[in-house]
Amino acid sequence: MKVTWELADGTEIAADVAQGTTLKDAALAADVPGIPGDCGGNLSCATCHVVVADDWFAAVGGPEATEDFMLDITEAPREAHSRLSCQIEMSAKLDGVRLKVPAV
Ligand code: FES
Repeated sequence: MKVTWELADGTEIAADVAQGTTLKDAALAADVPGIPGDCGGNLSCATCHVVVADDWFAAVGGPEATEDFMLDITEAPREAHSRLSCQIEMSAKLDGVRLKVPAV
């Protein structure tokens, strides 16, 4: 299943991502810059911040309460479709999903 990250300079990075892989781990595996994921996916660093493309947000869904709180401390300003990518697992319904990597 395919994921595409769009960097702040317009560069796109695409990767095949297996079912159940978090989109933070997928970003690390694909060498996507700007998503260090410092806490290893434990929802305590907010460095895996991405902005879900408008037409994909319904499929991805919004954050749970703890993630919602953490989204208020991201380095780049939170946007309407911001998510922490360690909290998004790849699944068939997300095949083709597009994510923006915020500029910091
Ligand atoms: S990797 Fe730390 S909050 Fe997602």
